[in-house]
Amino acid sequence: MKLMNRNLISNAALMAALFIGGAGSAAAQDADDPMAFVRGAQSWADSCARCHNMRDPAEFRDDVWEPTVLHMRIRAGLTGQETRDILTFLQKANDPADNKGENK
Ligand code: HEC
Repeated sequence: MKLMNRNLISNAALMAALFIGGAGSAAAQDADDPMAFVRGAQSWADSCARCHNMRDPAEFRDDVWEPTVLHMRIRAGLTGQETRDILTFLQKANDPADNKGENK
């Protein structure tokens, strides 16, 4: 599991770097705040493996992540900003072409 977490985190860092590179073209959910994705990647790495294994952004569709992250906001005691940032990260990092979740 440790290995998987490390891979996910380095993937997140890579995606964050790619996102910063292409920030101008991305249709950001938090359109006026291009750093939301980067903060979200950090908060996800910090918060989302405290109680269970890290969940892959590709595990759920964007619309399924929404209630899930709100649910986990309560569990994890996240601030509203952290919650929005993590949701932005999960939805942007979630490549539909690679979606292997059961809740497609
Ligand atoms: C304080 C502990 C805790 C933290 C922190 C936490 N979770 Fe959870 N998570 C749980 C528990 C407990 C469950 C099992 C469902 C339940 O009982 O609420 C769960 C279930 C899930 C599930 C399964 C689907 C569901 O909604 O039940 C997903 C996906 C998930 N967590 C993602 C995340 C993400 C993403 C984060 C970071 C924002 C996170 N979790 C942070 C405790 C936590």
